[in-house]
Amino acid sequence: MSPFRLTRTLPEDATGAALRADVRAGLTGSPKTLPPKWFYDARGSELFEEITALPEYYPTRAEREILLARADEIAAASGARTLVELGSGSSEKTRHLIAALDGLHTYVPVDVSESALTGAGQALAAERPGLEVHALVADFTAELALPDTPGPRLVAFLGGTVGNLLPAERSAFLASVRALLAPGDALLLGTDLVKDERTLVRAYDDAAGVTAAFNRNVLNVVNRELGADFDPDAFAHVAVWDAEQEWIEMRLRSRTAQSVKIPALELVVDFAEGEELRTEVSAKFRQEGVRAELAAAGLDLTRWWTDGEGRFALSLSVAR
Ligand SMILES: C[S@@+](CC[C@H](N)C(=O)[O-])C[C@H]1O[C@@H](n2cnc3c(N)ncnc32)[C@H](O)[C@@H]1O
Repeated sequence: MSPFRLTRTLPEDATGAALRADVRAGLTGSPKTLPPKWFYDARGSELFEEITALPEYYPTRAEREILLARADEIAAASGARTLVELGSGSSEKTRHLIAALDGLHTYVPVDVSESALTGAGQALAAERPGLEVHALVADFTAELALPDTPGPRLVAFLGGTVGNLLPAERSAFLASVRALLAPGDALLLGTDLVKDERTLVRAYDDAAGVTAAFNRNVLNVVNRELGADFDPDAFAHVAVWDAEQEWIEMRLRSRTAQSVKIPALELVVDFAEGEELRTEVSAKFRQEGVRAELAAAGLDLTRWWTDGEGRFALSLSVAR
């Protein structure tokens, strides 16, 4: 059994304070929005894992296919002794990469979901004797204090999660990732690719309704944490493709005119019938766009791999 350590980098009430600020700003703005990180309590993390196994949700299978085919190349190119994974979730696909990284000393999974980190971290520490697993409960959009571990460092950001950031957030985020790297260190980035609308929308609106339950889960989180009285069933799950922005939007559409009380904020939020609350953006990418965004952050794209059907890409870029 290898060492497993879990560090909460967030101060005691930071999560609650951030949730209150996000809910107040998001539900008093127009249009109404909530950031996707609040989907992921223990139930939300479970639902996301169910999504990854759905027939319609191709990104996980496509990315796993690439990782399985390219893990040795990634390992040889990076020579990483420390692997930091942002938004690591279950770390399920990452085990293929970890297995290929012979000289790996420490794995640092970073996630807002403590339940996901604990499950994944303990399993990995048991699987790979000698590997230090130092999990961080942290928000990857905030400044990260990483443990002092040996380089070279490889930062992995898989699952297409980078697409959940809006363009301005993405450039700030990529600059902050670059700041975690020394020259020559690398970023492994998973990006879902632009494709036909039907395939994209189905991936976010599955027949079994798991993504709908995941989407509504954010209302359960606000109810539990802020004492709100959202009726999740009073909101319909909506997934739409915005062809101009090249992103999927997940929304919750109010089925009726209704008022929701949020006691912790002393706030009452009115929804008109049909009014939509945006809960997630999931941008889809093209190679040239990814290359340009990385370059602007000081990262040179050196490798670009796609799955056999060209649905998803993994890129390796090196810090200048
Ligand atoms: C789309 S899932 C991807 C999970 C996994 N990387 C995969 O490829 O299957 C996004 C993950 O990022 C985490 N997450 C979302 N926003 C976050 C944030 N701001 N800071 C840290 N983790 C975050 C979620 O808890 C979840 O585990």
